[in-house]
Amino acid sequence: MSKKRIVTGDRPTGKLHIGHYFGSLVNRVKMQDEYDQYILVADVQALTDNFNNPEKVRNNVKELVIDYLSCGIDPEKTCIYIQSMIPETAELTVFYSNLVTISRLQRNPTVKTEIAQKKELFGESVTYGFLGYPVSQAGDITVLGGEIVPAGEDQEPLIEQCREIVRKFNSIYGEVFKEPEIYLSQNKRIKGLDGNEKMGKSLGNAIYISDSEEEITKKIMSAVTDPNRIKKDDKGNPDICMVSYYHKLFSSEQECKTVCEECKAGKRGCVQCKKELAANTIEFLRPMREKREYLEAHPEIIEKVLREGTAKAKKEAEETMKKVKKAMKLDYFCD
Ligand code: TRP
Repeated sequence: MSKKRIVTGDRPTGKLHIGHYFGSLVNRVKMQDEYDQYILVADVQALTDNFNNPEKVRNNVKELVIDYLSCGIDPEKTCIYIQSMIPETAELTVFYSNLVTISRLQRNPTVKTEIAQKKELFGESVTYGFLGYPVSQAGDITVLGGEIVPAGEDQEPLIEQCREIVRKFNSIYGEVFKEPEIYLSQNKRIKGLDGNEKMGKSLGNAIYISDSEEEITKKIMSAVTDPNRIKKDDKGNPDICMVSYYHKLFSSEQECKTVCEECKAGKRGCVQCKKELAANTIEFLRPMREKREYLEAHPEIIEKVLREGTAKAKKEAEETMKKVKKAMKLDYFCD
């Protein structure tokens, strides 16, 4: 039996943090064995809200791929490619744009939230490109024949819209595409160092996969603990302490148990607790840091991965577009 095709990706707009690691990267590393996995570096989509900052997008493409490879995404198993180098996607997006109304895009909950968050960039009036990015994302997925899209909850409205486009396309031009399904990550969202529900760059509360030992220690020493615990022998509540929360990610079960018991009994100082967590976090991320160091010293590896991945994805996209053009009666010449 042939493996099912996964298409997923990220906008290259910043370094990945441990929220990305536990939320999606571990899944991708697991899934690359059972699925035919394609991961796109969504540079075109990144430009929809960074059109005035091409440097930023460009620099983050390499960073993103280094993050992928250092976390265990294996280019022998997963095809990693650059979105802008698949012009077939742009072509398919134009065809799809006839099948989507403006009001439907304006009602897309993810797009709606993002527009509200980007008042500074867009003012009162959003661009055509940003409003339309769900159409282009439908292009990304379907031009590669994506069947499964592993993603977070925020991507659900985008996948739903993609499914609608596919149904409309198939009903007008004939069955060309499969409706992709979202595979929702079961892993819960990782909270920030400050206790915020979300870890994010703009919130300044993230531990990055690429953080140095010093950075990790500094960040963990500043993590939010039980505010009612002032003296070392005050009884603490580990349930509202970020240090205890991260111990569960990076420390052994036995250590977590000890942390919890000693904290509740007032037998453990927060400073000591943070030092232990920092040491474990540093160890946990060590192999990724080492891999990153190696890749940074060998940029030709990144280039090769992207070159080969993009060539492979492009071939697939070309095949799809032949079918699309035939179905849409745009196949003018016989070769
Ligand atoms: N929208 C995704 C994000 O913001 C990135 C993305 C672009 C994507 N094209 C995709 C994800 C196709 C899954 C499939 O992270």
